[in-house]
Amino acid sequence: MDSTWAPFVDSPHIPVMLREVLAALGPVAGETYIDGTLGAGGYTRAILGAVDCRVVAIDRDETAHGRAKDWAPAFGDRLILVHNTFGNVRECVSKPVDGFVLDIGVSSMQIDQAERGFSFRFDGPLDMRMDQGSGESAADIVNNMEETDLANLIYTYGDERQSRRIARAIVDARGQTPIISTGQLASIIRATVPRKSKDDIDPATRTFQALRIAVNDELGELERALAASEHILAEGGRLVVVTFHSLEDRIVKNFMKERSGDVPSPSRHLPVMAVAENAPTFILQNRKPVEAQDDEVSINPRSRSARLRCAIRTAAPAWPVPDVTKRKGRS
Ligand SMILES: C[S@@+](CC[C@H](N)C(=O)[O-])C[C@H]1O[C@@H](n2cnc3c(N)ncnc32)[C@H](O)[C@@H]1O
Repeated sequence: MDSTWAPFVDSPHIPVMLREVLAALGPVAGETYIDGTLGAGGYTRAILGAVDCRVVAIDRDETAHGRAKDWAPAFGDRLILVHNTFGNVRECVSKPVDGFVLDIGVSSMQIDQAERGFSFRFDGPLDMRMDQGSGESAADIVNNMEETDLANLIYTYGDERQSRRIARAIVDARGQTPIISTGQLASIIRATVPRKSKDDIDPATRTFQALRIAVNDELGELERALAASEHILAEGGRLVVVTFHSLEDRIVKNFMKERSGDVPSPSRHLPVMAVAENAPTFILQNRKPVEAQDDEVSINPRSRSARLRCAIRTAAPAWPVPDVTKRKGRS
């Protein structure tokens, strides 16, 4: 095994694409970085361990901060832990920083704790809130959302072609008794769209993913963080984003392409677009996403679907911030 992961062999979460993240971020002594997704601290610890720099580490999950208490003191005042969402990153720093890294999604710890309700592999309360207790839970959505909206949500965020049948079955089931556990929901889905072969993924996979994305407004959070990155990064600052889902990767790709001016030339027959009016705020570092290498995939299969994109902040002023209101996949 590459020594990159040696410090994490006993960690409940193996950091994904750590070599590539460090290469893209290129930590320099004296600089300050934001890790928007602290998790088990894989990126944060590696960045702080690489050079004498500072890291502001954000996580919306209080348990990530609780776990960090074991190792954070070793870094003294070089590490600042912030309990917030990365969509609110502008509230978390008082001056421009040299890098902003995001590792989108849930951690292995969150998935493996039955009581958090993220997984159909364990029976637990149907919750899925990363910041426990605030906002709608998955059970709230499943028990209250109108059938068509539920089908649209499962289709849009889960890429689930059987979304209408699943939504119908959920509405029928909740008419009998409220759906309050992951086991209940998984059974309803499995009974509605049985596995075709034993090699198929669990039929509940896509619906659970869709609910998690909706409960945590994951796409809205990503859009807010990207828009904020223009404001918090100093000239030369690096934006590094690792995603695991095609919807997320598309958001990052489109943002970086647009903000770097990498868009098709507007036709002279069309009105001048807003894109043409704003100077590029980023320089794209890779047109195609970077993927995990085979040696990493063999020790951490989760890394197979990871995509890393990176862009460097120019000196151009930030573009007007779009109004990214909370989305719920009800389109
Ligand atoms: C994939 S894990 C990060 C793992 C981390 N890179 C490591 O190596 O240990 C994602 C973490 O980001 C947090 N998270 C997800 N969305 C967030 C958001 N919008 N704001 C802040 N934290 C978020 C989750 O609670 C989770 O702890």
